[in-house]
Amino acid sequence: MIKQTYAAILPAAGIGSRMQSVLPKQYLPLAGKTVIEHSLSHLIQHSAISEVVVVLAENDCWFRQLEVAKHPKITLAPGGAERCDSVLSGLHAIKKAEWVLVHDAARPCLTHSDIDLLIEHIETYHQGAILGTQVRDTMKRSDANGNILGTVDREHLWHALTPQAFSVQQLRLALESALLQGVNITDEASAIELSGAACSILPGRADNLKVTRPEDMAMAELFLTQSLSL
Ligand code: C5P
Repeated sequence: MIKQTYAAILPAAGIGSRMQSVLPKQYLPLAGKTVIEHSLSHLIQHSAISEVVVVLAENDCWFRQLEVAKHPKITLAPGGAERCDSVLSGLHAIKKAEWVLVHDAARPCLTHSDIDLLIEHIETYHQGAILGTQVRDTMKRSDANGNILGTVDREHLWHALTPQAFSVQQLRLALESALLQGVNITDEASAIELSGAACSILPGRADNLKVTRPEDMAMAELFLTQSLSL
C-alpha cells in the first residue's frame, strides 16, 4: 500500500532551439497527440500521483488548447529563465504532496513501470532517487576542436534521465541554495548532490528518450506506436 503523497512537475517552459522548429518541441505532433500529452499521460493516470503541475512559458498559447489542460489533477505555474527556475516555480504551486517527481515535457515515452520504480524506492527508503541508464559506449573526452584527450572509465557512469523524485521541501531548499550559489543546475539531482544529501540512481528504461533533435522524433514515434515502451 502506498503511504506517501506524490505530485509531479512537468517543466515545459523551454523553447527547444535544437529542434529547429517554430513550435516548441513539446507541442510537435507525435503518434496522434502532441509530445507533451504523451509525457503527461502516465503521470496523470498513476493512482499514487494526486497533482500534476505543468510549468509554462509566459507566452505559451498552446497548452490551454489541449483537452488534457482541463484534467482535474493539473495546475499551471509560470516558467523561469532556466529549467531549475521553472522547477522551483512548479514546487511553489504544489498544494499538499510531500514528494515530487520532476519529468521533462520532452520525454514522451515514460512508462508506468518506471514511475513505479521511483515510488517503490521512496516508499521503502524515504529518500530521493532518479532514473538513469548505464553508459554502454566507450567514453571519450575531447578538447574544443574534437581532438581526443583521453578515454573516460565508463564503470559506474550513467545517463541521468527523468523523472527525478525528491521530497518537495528538500528539493525546494536545495534548488534555492544552488541558485544563491550561482551553480549551473541541469537536473534536480545536481542540486541535491550540492546539498550533500544522498540520492540513488535506478536503472530505468533506455527508450525513455528526450526529444532534442529532429531525428529523435522518429525514434519516439517508433517506441510509442510499436507499444515497445508500454
Ligand atoms: O532544453 P532541455 O531539453 O534541457 O529542457 C528540458 C525540459 O525543461 C523541457 O521540458 C523544457 O521545456 C523545460 N524547460 C523549462 N524552463 C526553461 C528551460 C527548459 O521548463 N527555462
